[in-house]
Amino acid sequence: MKLRLEGIGHAFLGRTVFEGLDLSLDPGEVVALIGPSGCGKTTVLQIAAGLIDPLRGRVRRAYQRHAVVFQEARLLPWMTARDNIAYGLRVAGARKKPRLGIAERRAREVGLHPNDLDKFPIELSGGMRQRAAVARALAIDPDVVFFDEPFTAVDVGLKRILQDLVIEAAAREHFSALFVTHDLSEAVRVAHRLVVLSGHQQGIVADRVIAGQPGQRSDRDIFEIVEAWSRDPAFTELFDGGRDT
Ligand SMILES: Nc1ncnc2c1ncn2[C@@H]1O[C@H](COP(=O)(O)OP(=O)(O)O)[C@@H](O)[C@H]1O
Ligand SMILES: [Mg+2]
Repeated sequence: MKLRLEGIGHAFLGRTVFEGLDLSLDPGEVVALIGPSGCGKTTVLQIAAGLIDPLRGRVRRAYQRHAVVFQEARLLPWMTARDNIAYGLRVAGARKKPRLGIAERRAREVGLHPNDLDKFPIELSGGMRQRAAVARALAIDPDVVFFDEPFTAVDVGLKRILQDLVIEAAAREHFSALFVTHDLSEAVRVAHRLVVLSGHQQGIVADRVIAGQPGQRSDRDIFEIVEAWSRDPAFTELFDGGRDT
């Protein structure tokens, strides 16, 4: 076990988001967390990553380093792509030459061209910025990576390429990941396990192992799993427009 949320409850301004939530990540396991908009996915991820303290319950961590990839790349605008990717290493005290070497290797892994590394975020396309955000996360050799709808804002064609990058990186580096998405086919593509969070404060309404391995499921396998789950009562909320508040 790398991470465990135990009996987590949270509310904003007195309004309950969820209660009694239990969730754990095993070593090397990619868990997709899915649910309708506003159900609390980001809140769960931020509690898991220690960005906010839960009102109730506890978080147990058994790892050294984690990284977060957000929906927006959140690159520092005054730094080149290279320095942005190396940023976490700089914060950790790595010396300049090795950290830039690591940044270049990580950039290559996510398909950034060496020429792009001298560019500033404003000179990069949205997809390139998101690649840089993934490279920055991988640069610190994280044991756990938190993804919060990282590819929601990128073009459909590119989405698949970026999903593949995550699948390959997870298999190669053996990190654990919590991958938040509201897209069931994305979840079924990238993860080992799928957890569904209710939009009606019912907590986790499904926790399923996804057949096969990420990266080895064909488009047809993914389609069939999504089709079957679309008819499953536990997934109804995902397809009925979400919470009615
Ligand atoms: N900082 C905040 N202050 C007040 N309400 C918030 C805050 N963050 C989230 N919420 C509310 O909590 C609920 C869950 O939000 P969030 O975790 O962002 O959901 P999701 O990521 O599933 O769309 C929503 O109703 C949202 O409006
Ligand atoms: Mg969210």
